Amino acid sequence: MFKKIKDKLMTLNFVRNYRNMWPYVKPYWLRGLVSVLITIPIGSMDAVIAWSLKPYMDVVMVEKTTSATNYIPILIIVFSCLQSSLNYAATYLNTWVGRKIANDVKMDLFDKLMLCDAKFFDTTTSGNVMFRYNNDVDAACNGLLSNLKLFTTRVFSSISLICVLFYNSWQLALIAVAVLFGALYPLTTVRRRIKGIMDKTVFSGAAVMSHYNETFSGNRIITSYNLYDYQRKRFRSTLKSVFRLGIKMVQRMGMMSPLMHFIVSLGIAAVIWTGSYLIVHQEITAGNFVSFITALIMLYNPIKSIGNSFHHVQLAFMAMDRVFSLMKSVPAIHNSPNAVELKEVKNKIEYKDVSFSYVKNKPVLKNVNLSIDVGQTIAFVGNSGGGKTTLVNLLPRFYDVKSGSVMIDGVDVRKYDLNSLRDKIAIVFQDNFLFAGTIRENILLGKENVTEEEINNAIKSSCLSEFIASLDKGLDTEIGERGVLLSGGQKQRIAIARAFLKNAPIVILDEATSALDNKSEAVVQQAIDNLMKDRTVFIIAHRLSTVRNADRIVVVNYGEIVETGTHEELLNKEDSVYASLYKSQLK
Ligand SMILES: Nc1ncnc2c1ncn2[C@@H]1O[C@H](COP(=O)(O)OP(=O)(O)O)[C@@H](O)[C@H]1O
Ligand SMILES: [Mg+2]
Repeated sequence: MFKKIKDKLMTLNFVRNYRNMWPYVKPYWLRGLVSVLITIPIGSMDAVIAWSLKPYMDVVMVEKTTSATNYIPILIIVFSCLQSSLNYAATYLNTWVGRKIANDVKMDLFDKLMLCDAKFFDTTTSGNVMFRYNNDVDAACNGLLSNLKLFTTRVFSSISLICVLFYNSWQLALIAVAVLFGALYPLTTVRRRIKGIMDKTVFSGAAVMSHYNETFSGNRIITSYNLYDYQRKRFRSTLKSVFRLGIKMVQRMGMMSPLMHFIVSLGIAAVIWTGSYLIVHQEITAGNFVSFITALIMLYNPIKSIGNSFHHVQLAFMAMDRVFSLMKSVPAIHNSPNAVELKEVKNKIEYKDVSFSYVKNKPVLKNVNLSIDVGQTIAFVGNSGGGKTTLVNLLPRFYDVKSGSVMIDGVDVRKYDLNSLRDKIAIVFQDNFLFAGTIRENILLGKENVTEEEINNAIKSSCLSEFIASLDKGLDTEIGERGVLLSGGQKQRIAIARAFLKNAPIVILDEATSALDNKSEAVVQQAIDNLMKDRTVFIIAHRLSTVRNADRIVVVNYGEIVETGTHEELLNKEDSVYASLYKSQLK
């Protein structure tokens, strides 16, 4: 018996979850405990009503006197009031504690989320993130407490009502209890039945969210490609699978309730039959019997829903499992134990025999060797998909090399403290993410202690002065979600202004002007030229006019460096890939 209970608790991963949860519960444990303890009297008070029927029946109905039972109606009122006040207190405390814990867990998970590496974001959908980092936490924390409250209320209500049963007649009570335990048995199989479905439901639920998100972020594409049918079909098929899973869940869980109903009705029948016999043979009073039946009928509800709350407590535990598996996961890219701070980039940046692949057996970079002196501008050109972006992404450790090493001043970047490494590198992408908010907020990005003068310099250097002067609200103009209210060139210059304020010694420009028309390109190019001054620059561009002034040009084709040199050197070289690229662009 004990072993069984222990096994049951183990399947809930109770012990492990409890240990994981404790640091979060600790600050609120007293209130949490009170909120659960309150449920004991709440549940037990049900019994008082059933119990009071016995004296009432025997004294009033049978003996026809009222003097001794005047207290009963008052008692019922008092107890009901008390019960509902306690219920309120329990719900209040419960929600308070649940949300506090959920918030703490969410805050920690959010920190975790931000530290996830690029690979995680490559392979995870936004819906999945929302589901697992938000909804699961609610299910685990709020859900657990509120369902635990319901569960314990019902358990205590059942126990006290069972006591009333025994008080009235132990023979009848034995029958009733035997039947009830029979009815509860199917509940022990719940977890096994639903585990698989639950996991799939989480997955599909996340897919639904991703659809909303894509429709939101991708609305321009959807409109311009008339993707209504396409999106509709995808959405419907996901919804259908959620539906199917929901139905499957009901199929597996739903037959339990009718089954329990049936067993219980058998019990009631047996009790009435035996009860009538006992009354006729004067072994129990009519009051006993009425009180017994009332308690039995009252017992039916909590017993029936114990299953339901138990099921929900289990769901909460499963969610908790998922939450803590996230909590325990360590991103592949993290600080090494003895990380050193990168204070200054003094000499050079080197790539030594660097190989890299995103997926096994599909090499993206093959034995790349490269050395860049501080202060140099190095440009990368080559076929699309050739690995240029990948190459520069290894420097701030968006990904780590598969073999070889990327070094700054002779030390592998993996040995540097991540924050100090990334502090030294400013990146301007082709498409830079802007946050909803003002231009000022987007340039500062949370940086404090920045003087107006520094901001003005950044704005001037990134050729934004004229544009900002033309705005009524200037720097404090709202730019809409993702900066939708700005043109491509304006967004780009804001991204460059950010880089100016960051003032990092290394700058990476990844196709920073590629998405622009000629006119905005000229302005942005000016801003970029300003940014490049006195820094070590990695520039990727497919318009060769933008790279010709680089100290060195590196042609990367299919993951390999095929030639390097200055613009002139490469043009004069025989069979030069660069020269033929350049000539084809001139035409
Ligand atoms: N996050 C990623 N996951 C898997 N494969 C990727 C990822 N990013 C790029 N690739 C692949 O790696 C190769 C090199 O890509 P990339 O470095 O972006 O090329 P380039 O910048 O030269 O156009 C391409 O074949 C591309 O499909
Ligand atoms: Mg690229």
